Amino acid sequence: MIPRFRPNLGWGEFKKIFSLTPKSEVQDFEEEFSAFMGQKYARSFSYGRMALYAFLKAHQIEKKEIILPAYTCIVMAHAIEESGNHSVFVDVRKEDLSMDFELLKKAISKETAAIVFTSLYGAPVNLGEVQFIKEHYPHIKIIQDCTHLLNGKSQGKTIAHFGDMALFGLGLSKPVTSVFGGMLTTNDAELIKQIDSVKTHLFSDSVGRGLFKRVYLFLAFVAFWKPFYSVTNFLERYGFIDYFVKLFDVNKIEIPKDSFQNLSSFEASIGRLQLEKFAETAESIQAVTGIYQQGLKVPKIDVTEGIVVSHYNILIKNRESYMESMLSHGIQVGDMYNYSLPELKPYQGHKYLSGHNYSQNVAREIVNLPLCVSESEARRIVELTNKLLQS
Ligand SMILES: Cc1ncc(COP(=O)(O)O)c(C=O)c1O
Repeated sequence: MIPRFRPNLGWGEFKKIFSLTPKSEVQDFEEEFSAFMGQKYARSFSYGRMALYAFLKAHQIEKKEIILPAYTCIVMAHAIEESGNHSVFVDVRKEDLSMDFELLKKAISKETAAIVFTSLYGAPVNLGEVQFIKEHYPHIKIIQDCTHLLNGKSQGKTIAHFGDMALFGLGLSKPVTSVFGGMLTTNDAELIKQIDSVKTHLFSDSVGRGLFKRVYLFLAFVAFWKPFYSVTNFLERYGFIDYFVKLFDVNKIEIPKDSFQNLSSFEASIGRLQLEKFAETAESIQAVTGIYQQGLKVPKIDVTEGIVVSHYNILIKNRESYMESMLSHGIQVGDMYNYSLPELKPYQGHKYLSGHNYSQNVAREIVNLPLCVSESEARRIVELTNKLLQS
């Protein structure tokens, strides 16, 4: 069976599960990550969302409005709420799933303290729009959520450089993973001083964390092992491994219990290996992306040239039946995110600039195709998808 995603993990990562990892791995990972992103500083966290949390704390932003797309990962809104601020949502555009610019301008109020620009899937945010906000609202902090666009560029410029900070979630489904974990990058020395102070006061090391993440990665190796994946799929479908795979709750605002732990040296050591082989990962993702782009005759979310996506997406009206048919052919596809934030219980009644409510349409129709497949498997997926959707 082909899984909907599979991290590019190999023997090097497997050996790390059983190796001693010195504490210096964390700093080494941060330094290598900042060099990789071409920024002066990087700081690691337990999760990507905690980079946002720490940033808001570092600037002592409280009881303010933070604007973010209605269509993004719910954990970002949870982090905003947990930091003592309010999330304000803006509908996204059809073309690139970025916030609709006219609605974004309307969403800005005197309570706005920060805007989270989110480059989703293969489409970088529009830097002209970011620049406009910078110039017209210099007091508003700009955060680039580059979780899905690690090396994203727009008109030759690196997206992560266009803001007060960039954040990266480094979970298992991302092209560079540290098992769990997140990163913040910036060029701002003053901000880093404040972030370090927040980290000292609110975050701490945990001996158990490294051990737990080793066990988790070992189980992930088993779960993604080709001959075993059908079992994994079965267990996931019937909720037997929720504890390991459901990393957030769409019905209540919360952050994971281990959020205030520092990244473990074990996770950092995995992240370093992943950075080392990013070129190899990128090459195979781009080859598969090219096959999908050229071959699929269905509505899709275009991937800007040169971008390494974490998910390749198509839009399908009768998603459930397509997903079932693919599964019956041994191919699992994903439906992330299958929600628009303002429609979820915790965020109903929040300020929402809804426009055409395109966020909701995307949530109903999005399908993520597997990327960690061979070129012949990718061609099979294209053929099957075109056939299923034309019949
Ligand atoms: C767009 C986006 N931003 C941020 C995150 C945060 O990631 P984490 O789970 O590491 O907090 C995610 C999670 O995948 C995401 O999809």
